[in-house]
Amino acid sequence: TAARTPLMAGNWKMNLNHVEAVHLLQKLSWTLQDKKHDFDRVEVAVLPPFTDIRSVQTLVDGDRMKIKYGAQDVSTHDSGAYTGEISASMLTKLGCTYVLTGHSERRQHHHETDEVVNAKTAKAIEAGLTPIMCVGEGLEVRKADGHVEHCLGQVDAGLAGLKQDDVRKLVIAYEPVWAIGTGEVATPEDAQEVIAAIRGRIEETISPSVADSVRILYGGSVKMASAGGIMAQPDVDGCLVGGASLQVDEFAGICRYLD
Ligand code: G3P
Repeated sequence: TAARTPLMAGNWKMNLNHVEAVHLLQKLSWTLQDKKHDFDRVEVAVLPPFTDIRSVQTLVDGDRMKIKYGAQDVSTHDSGAYTGEISASMLTKLGCTYVLTGHSERRQHHHETDEVVNAKTAKAIEAGLTPIMCVGEGLEVRKADGHVEHCLGQVDAGLAGLKQDDVRKLVIAYEPVWAIGTGEVATPEDAQEVIAAIRGRIEETISPSVADSVRILYGGSVKMASAGGIMAQPDVDGCLVGGASLQVDEFAGICRYLD
């Protein structure tokens, strides 16, 4: 089986101006350096708002940080008359490694359909970014026990038409909507159940070797105290962290779950 390097990604959402962003990142870097964090063992990334990315790039480059960064969304278009949109190649030029696609907040508040998520994921790959494609069920679906089917449907639709080698490189995040920002963490077993099912589906529809390589994260109220239990599950390859990624000690603690 492939050795999948765990990824801890901090989704800052619509928080922090560029001065605050630089402070947070600098402190995070110092904290991890202090602990002699091995970035080859556990990868660390931050996902700032668009307006902070240039500042983050300057700091990461200037300090030769091993922390990676990316964006929270990307356009389905390449360029042109799309007011307010940001293209994948703009993000590549800013040194982004990652981009979120299909975050539940975008699906919910911006009516992004599976087709849009699929198009964004494809555009990101085409521009050389690694998409972190998010899937997850709401509370109603969970209560009706439809969560596994729901997430597999989103995975199938999100990956439609992508090449095997592209899927191998991408990251998927399972974020149950009822556990986002609610303090309600899914149990490690809940995370494992859906994530293993996603890996199984990729094995069936794409290939066993791709299923073995693709990284699948859990997201939803992850804290330092819960990260270890979640990461102990065999199919969980990292965490997508919202609120706790804005607190240096919490996020550094999540990155240091092996301590
Ligand atoms: O993308 C991360 C996310 O939606 C989880 O947010 O605040 O529950 O960790 P939070």
